[in-house]
Amino acid sequence: MNCCHYYQFIPGNEQVFSADVTRIRYGCGVLKELGQEARALGIKRAAVYTDSRIRSLPLFDEAVAALRAEGIEAVIYDEVRVEPTDVSFKEAARFAKSGAFDGFISIGGGSVIDTAKAANLYSSCEGDFMDYVNAPIGRGLVVSGPLRPHLACPTTAGTGSESTGIAVFDLLEMKSKTGISSRALLPDRGIVDPRWTESLPATVMAATGFDAISHALEALTAKPFTSRPSPENISGRPMPQGANPFSDTLCRESLRQAGKYLVRAVNDRADHEARHAMMYAATLAGVGFGNAGCHLPHAMSYPVSGRVEHYRPEGYPGVEPICPHGMSVIVNAPAAYRFTAPGCPERHAEGAELLGADTHDTVAAEAGAVLAGHIEEMMQATGVPNGIGGVGFTEEAVDGLAEAASAQQRLLLVAPVSVDQADLRNLYRNALSYW
Ligand SMILES: [Fe+2]
Repeated sequence: MNCCHYYQFIPGNEQVFSADVTRIRYGCGVLKELGQEARALGIKRAAVYTDSRIRSLPLFDEAVAALRAEGIEAVIYDEVRVEPTDVSFKEAARFAKSGAFDGFISIGGGSVIDTAKAANLYSSCEGDFMDYVNAPIGRGLVVSGPLRPHLACPTTAGTGSESTGIAVFDLLEMKSKTGISSRALLPDRGIVDPRWTESLPATVMAATGFDAISHALEALTAKPFTSRPSPENISGRPMPQGANPFSDTLCRESLRQAGKYLVRAVNDRADHEARHAMMYAATLAGVGFGNAGCHLPHAMSYPVSGRVEHYRPEGYPGVEPICPHGMSVIVNAPAAYRFTAPGCPERHAEGAELLGADTHDTVAAEAGAVLAGHIEEMMQATGVPNGIGGVGFTEEAVDGLAEAASAQQRLLLVAPVSVDQADLRNLYRNALSYW
């Protein structure tokens, strides 16, 4: 199989793709340059967003010392909620409004970086909270005007939030996640120091690593950007623009690295080579999916993390039940890829091969099963729960999950096959357990 013909130029359809990239500074020790980077952006008084676990780590002190060494006043907000909600976004925005800050620093995983994006937005722009939330759940208004500078320092190897203009949260009244999407939310710098991975609990390494893998797979298998009509105005070009040659290149290398290193990185905390490699894989995938979009596994994940009732994974702070983002993605992923494979079987087979599966004799009809089977093997090798049943869902939850997932049209529209609510019910049934 090959996929040389994925981008077919059709008269009237899109022929242009965007490459919106955060300026990334990558490498062990780069945190020491945080102050210089912030000062170069004109920051004198920074709101520093983090959570209580990260605040207790020596690398956090190193980052704050780097800011203060450049004469930057760093005021710390360490109450970011893991898996943020509309309520926690609003609290973080109140802190931003009250402090007369001229810049934002986020030091944490996706929850922290997304919270800083939202705090920056809602303390800079007028309007109601739902104005900027993705339609049709919110009003999906365009963010007008630039926000204040934001330097994002990811501490997990997975979310890629430093490279995207997306902030995801649980909308409590809907019991599902949704998000805010705007190129204006793209951080000005990604300060990516792989040393953070050395202290990650195994469960966090697994959840975030699988999130990165699914970012790369979903971007690689998204509908091609050439399948959309050409926009009349540049503002009509969506951020989830579909697979394109730029995102393909990044996602392929990300999958190659993650296939080689994820299992090692989860199972051996001392394997710094593997853990650092996963930080690089996640960075590549973040830029890749930020310029293509995610689809079915992410759409299915949001109601799962929004409705979890009893599951409490090891290694996460707090006492409330949660299904961490990456975990909620990967427990749905095998069922999702079996379903989407007929849309572009050659790309599903390629994804499996890049992750390390033997695809020598794989024919198109088997591509989804081969990719899903390989992911299931990786899940078992890293102690990830067995499907959505493994995080507490039963057959009775399926209808509600499917109804909530069908609202994620922004994601579902990028899937390589069409998905309706009846499909989603079958998909969740198939995702209850895999082995
Ligand atoms: Fe994700």
